[in-house]
Amino acid sequence: MNNCKAIEISENIYWVGAVDWSMRNFHGYETGRGTTYNAYLILDEKITLIDTAKIDFKDELIARISSVIDPVQIEVIISSHVEPDHSGALKEIAELAPNAEIFTTNPNGIKGLTARYGKLNYKAVNAGDKISIGKRTLQFVPTPMLHWPDSMVTYCPEEKILFSNDAFGEHLATSLRFDDENDLATIFFEAKKYYANILMPFGKQAQTALKALGNLEMRMIATGHGVIWRKNIDKIVDCYKKWSAGEVEERAVIVFDSMWHSTEILAQTITEAFAKRKISAAYYDIKKNALSDIMTDIFTSKYLAVGSPTINNQMMPTIAGFLCYLKGLRPVNHKGFAFGSYGWGGQSIGYVEDELKLAGIEIILEKIRVANVPTAQQLNEITEKILALDL
Ligand code: FEO
Repeated sequence: MNNCKAIEISENIYWVGAVDWSMRNFHGYETGRGTTYNAYLILDEKITLIDTAKIDFKDELIARISSVIDPVQIEVIISSHVEPDHSGALKEIAELAPNAEIFTTNPNGIKGLTARYGKLNYKAVNAGDKISIGKRTLQFVPTPMLHWPDSMVTYCPEEKILFSNDAFGEHLATSLRFDDENDLATIFFEAKKYYANILMPFGKQAQTALKALGNLEMRMIATGHGVIWRKNIDKIVDCYKKWSAGEVEERAVIVFDSMWHSTEILAQTITEAFAKRKISAAYYDIKKNALSDIMTDIFTSKYLAVGSPTINNQMMPTIAGFLCYLKGLRPVNHKGFAFGSYGWGGQSIGYVEDELKLAGIEIILEKIRVANVPTAQQLNEITEKILALDL
């Protein structure tokens, strides 16, 4: 915790959050590049803190706030989201700033914060509410189910800054706070990965929120994770429009597990068959790839083929876990099929197909079942079937 100084992002507005360099698993989401917990301090007539940080980083948060002001001076705390990566240090900050009012959504923010931190000095916020903190105004825009019932964003019209919490963010540990100071391809990949793994089920809610934010002039989007957008605001907003509309590309993703290489051979054949159709295809052995990376690719790829051999009359547990995750994320506009080899029963392939249907995938090819090791003729037949698909 060296050199915990606040970083001024605009006149009298400071980033006072924390960088979590070693975070690699965020409740199952593989965060290969770490993350940040962004909090912002506004110096105005009423000193205002927007969000806190995960409890493990409370000392960093307090040190950064203290590098600018004494925390006892904080009069307004905005809690954009109850999830503990943003509210984790709320109680500690409230103890240091006993006169602060804590603004959170009505009723879900109040309920969630009370359940976690007990009775504090909460103030209920409804859609359209605004408060003056001096020269600046803060307008609250609840964004329910983006991605929790209590979620909200806050807009400051005098600054043209949107404090967006989870929206528009990405899991990326970096010392440089702005989009234009970092590698853009990495940021956009991580932003897409964040959307795919956290926000994919909430496309309709995202579109509603985008409409509510549509008329706001934005000079900065100060997110809850990763970088602050200032140069690529239109680009990330356009991405959110496309992603929330469920736009997919002519691309295929093949996901499989294999016991003795036979399902693997089928996966290779299917991948090559898509390539013969000039459809780029990604090939994922589930043992060797992070689930959250695979899901990022599936999110915008129209086609999905999932393969598993049969073990103990079931599909491989790796594939069962993958399909469970897929169902929860509720992808839209996807088409696919199941495949696999088997020794005798071969039940797994039907189960995979059933799960794909439950995940909302339109089945476009009869499940591919091959006993033991696929022959050259069987592989040719599979290729021909994929070439003949009316896509
Ligand atoms: Fe970054 Fe939903 O918390």
